[in-house]
Amino acid sequence: MEKRSSADGATVLIVGAGPAGLVLGNLLLAAGVDCLIVERQSRAHVEQRARAGFLAAETVRVLVDNGLGTGLRARGRQHGTCVFRTERGEFALQYDGLGRGEAHTVYPQQELVTDLVAEFLARGGDLRFDTPVSETGGLDGLDGERPWLVAHRADGTPYRLTGRYVAGCDGRHGVCRRQLPAGAVRSHRRRHGVSWLALLVETPPALPAVTYAVHDRGFAGHMARTPSVTRYYLQCEPGTDPDAWTDAAVWDELDLRMRAERFGPLRRGPVLERAVVDLESDVLDPMQYGRLFLAGDAAGLISPSAAKGANLAVMAAETLARAFAAALHQGDEEPLARYSATCLPRIWRAQEFSHWMIGLLHAPAGDDEESRFLRALRDSRLESLRTSTVQQHSFADNYVGV
Ligand code: APR
Repeated sequence: MEKRSSADGATVLIVGAGPAGLVLGNLLLAAGVDCLIVERQSRAHVEQRARAGFLAAETVRVLVDNGLGTGLRARGRQHGTCVFRTERGEFALQYDGLGRGEAHTVYPQQELVTDLVAEFLARGGDLRFDTPVSETGGLDGLDGERPWLVAHRADGTPYRLTGRYVAGCDGRHGVCRRQLPAGAVRSHRRRHGVSWLALLVETPPALPAVTYAVHDRGFAGHMARTPSVTRYYLQCEPGTDPDAWTDAAVWDELDLRMRAERFGPLRRGPVLERAVVDLESDVLDPMQYGRLFLAGDAAGLISPSAAKGANLAVMAAETLARAFAAALHQGDEEPLARYSATCLPRIWRAQEFSHWMIGLLHAPAGDDEESRFLRALRDSRLESLRTSTVQQHSFADNYVGV
């Protein structure tokens, strides 16, 4: 492993201990590259933050092959079927028998993050919690050989960390993406005009599979998390106050849109968390500038319609870890130079599928010409998925792939 310089720092400075930063850090340590991670939040906070939970087979392969899969192998559950409920009835797609024949592993993100933190520390990694990088002037020297960060100790004292490279893994609201000079990077952004009330509910999954309910009152979704916690989604008006939805209102609306009368009741339970998520996409091109490389949500957002966010974060981290190792061990800068070009086709493919999923699950409710047209398209898309095996294979390929 490269020796730490006398000034505080490391060869690769990683900002953010989410899936992207932690996978990158673990892979770098395994490759003998000196790195450190600074994280704004406390360890307890990142280990309890409930987020996504569906891991694609390729993501699981990266984690398992790099010694990061013990927890998910032991406690993750395989899901290979999803169900669509519409006005016409319901149909199931057993996607692990279609397309590439792969299933998802359901493993809550906070458990994955807990495993990744433990493994990074067990590998001797330097992980500094409660250490935010300054919102202004926190990152500099990106054009030179020795970029640096300004981080803050728990008592608020600023100090400098110097490295050879910076990995911006600090999520959608992080500081790193804001350091990119105007004109050096293009942002491709789209607000989809759809919002979901995301609910974490203390109740066992009511249904054996992920279930998407398409309803003229709006989309509703059911996704297993753990044996005692279930994720539900309810499409809501953009700008809705999540606390305006009482538990009773949530369950009544879920029953209605999931058509409980026809398919059986849901298992009610207390709502543990409620938040409104606006479906948004944002892709930065390139994902790098000088000595700064972005990965995960810092490099781009994807709507949660196809649960791709955490998977893209892990894949980018793997690509970046290999590129840093090639530059530092073999003096081969080419993989770093091509980092964005390697990641972006994968990101755009996931964006395209997620966008298609938005059109599969939603359509405007109005009685105007445009709304009626879009509803008919949505229904035709669902019908084609129900009846065409070619369409089902293609769906499976995209649904579980990254
Ligand atoms: N200084 C230090 N750390 C920071 C700063 C800062 N100024 N700003 C943000 N962070 C930290 C956050 O506290 C967070 O822990 O960066 C981390 C970013 O982690 P995530 O938001 O989980 O992003 P990422 O690792 O890219 O994972 C993307 O995981 O959380 C999901 O929805 C997300 O599925 C997506 C995937």
